[in-house]
Amino acid sequence: MGQKYLWWQRGVIYQIYPRSFQDSNGDGVGDLPGIVERLDYLEWLGVDAVWLSPIYPSPMADFGYDISNYTDVDPLFGTLADFDHLIEEVHRRGMKLLLDFVPNHTSDQHPWFAESRSSRDSSKRNWYIWREPKSDGGEPNNWLSNFGGSAWQFDERTGQYYYHAFLKEQPDLNWRNPEVQDAMLNVLRFWLDRGVDGFRVDVIWHIVKDDQFRNNDPDPNYQPQWAPHRKLLATYNTDRPEVHDIIGRMRAVLDEYDERMMVGEIYLPVERLVTYYGTENSGVNLPFNFQLIETPWHARAIGDAVNRYEALLPAHGWPNWVLGNHDNSRMISRIGKEQARIAAMLLLTLRGTPTLYYGDEIGMHNVPIPPDRVQDPFEKNVPGLGHGRDPERTPMQWNAEPNAGFTSVSAWLPIADDVESTNVVAARKDPNSLLALYRRLIELRRREPALEVGNFVSIPAEGDLLVFRREVANARAFVIALNFGASAAKFSNENLSGKVALSTCLNRENQIIDRAIELRPQEGIIVELRDRMT
Ligand code: GLC
Repeated sequence: MGQKYLWWQRGVIYQIYPRSFQDSNGDGVGDLPGIVERLDYLEWLGVDAVWLSPIYPSPMADFGYDISNYTDVDPLFGTLADFDHLIEEVHRRGMKLLLDFVPNHTSDQHPWFAESRSSRDSSKRNWYIWREPKSDGGEPNNWLSNFGGSAWQFDERTGQYYYHAFLKEQPDLNWRNPEVQDAMLNVLRFWLDRGVDGFRVDVIWHIVKDDQFRNNDPDPNYQPQWAPHRKLLATYNTDRPEVHDIIGRMRAVLDEYDERMMVGEIYLPVERLVTYYGTENSGVNLPFNFQLIETPWHARAIGDAVNRYEALLPAHGWPNWVLGNHDNSRMISRIGKEQARIAAMLLLTLRGTPTLYYGDEIGMHNVPIPPDRVQDPFEKNVPGLGHGRDPERTPMQWNAEPNAGFTSVSAWLPIADDVESTNVVAARKDPNSLLALYRRLIELRRREPALEVGNFVSIPAEGDLLVFRREVANARAFVIALNFGASAAKFSNENLSGKVALSTCLNRENQIIDRAIELRPQEGIIVELRDRMT
């Protein structure tokens, strides 16, 4: 192959939402020792890296995305010693560990903020974003919080407003202040020195705001079902040009170490997203690509999105794909059970690093949350619009017991009512389960250089079919054909000769393909081509 690929280019990332993976101490909330108990499962599944949503001390206003101390572990999840044990166990299995880094905002309970809000002359006043009220006492400008209402909170004691892109309990740090930069870069070093392999960086496109605090304009395309903050285009409070210098500083810290990386959370149109790759040594290694979450689930729309993304990537930019996470409706609830297998095959055969969200591999769906059990502050602030994120954060379903093998007591969120049939133990017994398919796809991908790092070549197809080839010099090449539709479909191509390496349906492996494939309804097939690439 010639070129050397790094672990995060070849590997598969698995996201754990720690509150919901495994409880080890009977409080109904998952924790670090619980994750250690389940590492054998992840090793069996074949994933290469585990990303943990935040585990730091936090008042949990936004379930850990409001951090009151960046260099410790919340007692709910364990201790630093538990963390050291976890990282040791992850590494012993040849896997990597990514932490969530939340640079945009702290908790309002962080000592930095307590100091900052104490007086206008505080040495940390300028660590956060404080502004004078308008002459009528109103908010400094029209910026909106992503979680509803104004993004400005008036602070009686000092008579100024502070900016919070999310909850008022999550004041935004002032990244234009070099002291903030230095302090936060030291947070990275603290965890890198402890052995973490990289970070998922929370809302990285938010961290710098307009220096003139200009008002945002209304979005003429706003739809009432969207979250209220989307009434305005986030022109001046996100995606500012100066963000790239700061990313460059983060990247320089990572590059002080060996093969560490960052993946950045960025919800932007693809043309903007790809700018976050920066230049070769200054950008985010993997700006999260959420197109499989955002694009309507049709072969043509997905195909167009893939081709556009491939075309827009800079030469040094390594692609990546995501099917689900803790902020979006479960994959299966978005696209339906029948398409879950197509989605798995797509995720694991596209060019680029795939990220799986815990539970998607066994087919967990959104769990309805009764009003008295709602936890998510987003849902509490803007109820009834379907933005609540609890449904996709429910406990991992390990077995058919009442608490799903997750905990011995009542769990912090309800457990799905189909736990008897949808759980890891049952799925491991069934050779036709979605879990079995994920495992075989991961295994095939790891074994075949073309699937792991090969080029992506789009093959024209029509209707509900998506077809592409993966190939790399001196290795077997593959054609992937995915039927997004509910009827059988036929695809012919002069160069399509080989045998079926894997199908989403049973009993097709090794079937000979001679210039045409008959796909069953909702079937996806990986064909190993007869002729190797030279
Ligand atoms: C990111 C996280 C989300 C959190 C928000 C504020 O979008 O993924 O869960 O609520 O940032 O930190």
